[in-house]
Amino acid sequence: MNLEVIVLAAGKGTRMRSSLPKVLHRVAGRPMLAHVVDRAAELQASVIHIVIGHGAEQVQARIEAPRVNWVMQREQLGTGHAVKQVLPDLGAESVALILYGDVPLTRTETLSALVDLVDDAHMALLTVQMDDPGGYGRIVREPGGNIVGIVEHKDASAEQLAIHEVNTGILAVKSSCLHAWLPRLSNENAQGEYYLTDIIAMAAADGLRVRSVHPDTVAEVQGANDRVQLAELERWYQARAAEKLMRAGAALIDPARLDVRGEVTVGEDVEIDINVILEGAVSIGPGARIGAHSTLRDVVIGAGSRVLENCVLEQCEIGAGCTVGPFARLRPGTRLHDGARVGNFVETKNATVCEDAKINHLTYVGDASVGARSNIGAGTITCNYDGANKHRTEIEEDVFVGSNSALVAPVRIGRGATVGAGSTITRDVSTGSLAVARGRQKEVANWERPKKK
Ligand code: UD1
Ligand code: CA
Repeated sequence: MNLEVIVLAAGKGTRMRSSLPKVLHRVAGRPMLAHVVDRAAELQASVIHIVIGHGAEQVQARIEAPRVNWVMQREQLGTGHAVKQVLPDLGAESVALILYGDVPLTRTETLSALVDLVDDAHMALLTVQMDDPGGYGRIVREPGGNIVGIVEHKDASAEQLAIHEVNTGILAVKSSCLHAWLPRLSNENAQGEYYLTDIIAMAAADGLRVRSVHPDTVAEVQGANDRVQLAELERWYQARAAEKLMRAGAALIDPARLDVRGEVTVGEDVEIDINVILEGAVSIGPGARIGAHSTLRDVVIGAGSRVLENCVLEQCEIGAGCTVGPFARLRPGTRLHDGARVGNFVETKNATVCEDAKINHLTYVGDASVGARSNIGAGTITCNYDGANKHRTEIEEDVFVGSNSALVAPVRIGRGATVGAGSTITRDVSTGSLAVARGRQKEVANWERPKKK
């Protein structure tokens, strides 16, 4: 069976009060439409037709996916009109699944259950019971239970308004049916729109049965029309992400105070304190702990390592048994080998720190390597930038760099060498030697300080 997904994403989203098209507003750091496109990809859709209108160029520029077919709907004349724009590109013998760019949290399992119900004699509709069905299209069933129509809220009779089963808008049907039915839609209704929902009555009239599937939770079919609803979707997403991490073995000090904006994997006995943000691809090894208020973006953390409070790590790889922070900033290209320590107010960039090396306080290490067991004193700076180019600092094993030293790159500190505190090192230091490069201390006895006139 060939599956084609159709995503409606032409609406403006006036109630967002934003210059950004509605479907580009983000849930978990990504446009809502990107979440929907992910689901289509997971369902192995052969093509994803995305119907765009408002802010079309912005939408096209922000959404990247293979097999997307962009379809323009210049005027938004209704959901039926939107799907009709796809007909010239829609296969004759596939199954079409209709999704919405502003409904980002539907699970793939729910959608695949829906698609599986479609055959020549059946179409499938995702419906849900709502305590407050106001505004939604109501599902009309005949006494035997068969679905025979959908009535929009504005067109419904008092009796129909009392129905609590509503249309989510998401449906699956043979594409041949859409080819047959959509040209026959009319806009003679309360809103003067071409309603996609009118195809349900056409199906019934053509002798097709309408099967229904229900989502696990209402969140799966909830759209975001304004920023309040968007924030609700965000919380739903985060609750689900937190639950997934806990089931995988992570202890979350407060599941409501963690934000996941990417793909996170955790080992057993990981502990994550409050207000942590995990972005991009993050992997946290067994027994590792992440301190409060830390952000990890595209990071791998090895087993048993500790990231203390208030750290920012981006594109780095931390080995096993390392300690980072509090208040450390590890920038892209940082690699800590097992047992390395990076302490407070330390910034690293494009730096390799080997086994058991220590950079404990107030230091900048950029474009550098630090050998195993070396100790970098407080206030040390690798001067990697000459105003035009970047240069490397190579610190070999078992080096001791005294506090407040400036290492002017390119420079190499040999194995076992010592740099005296306060030195400005401009030339390579040989293996095993001591380099001191600072003014000698002078002493003037019985010094008289100047006095005020
Ligand atoms: C629609 C359904 C209703 C259902 C509800 C669920 C119809 C006629 N009604 O109503 O039964 O309960 O969704 O939320 O389908 N869109 C376009 N082009 C258009 C019109 C709409 O792309 O010309 C997109 C919108 O951007 C939006 C989605 O389709 O993302 C739904 O459109 P909207 O007008 O909000 O439909 P509802 O009136 O909510
Ligand atoms: Ca709507």
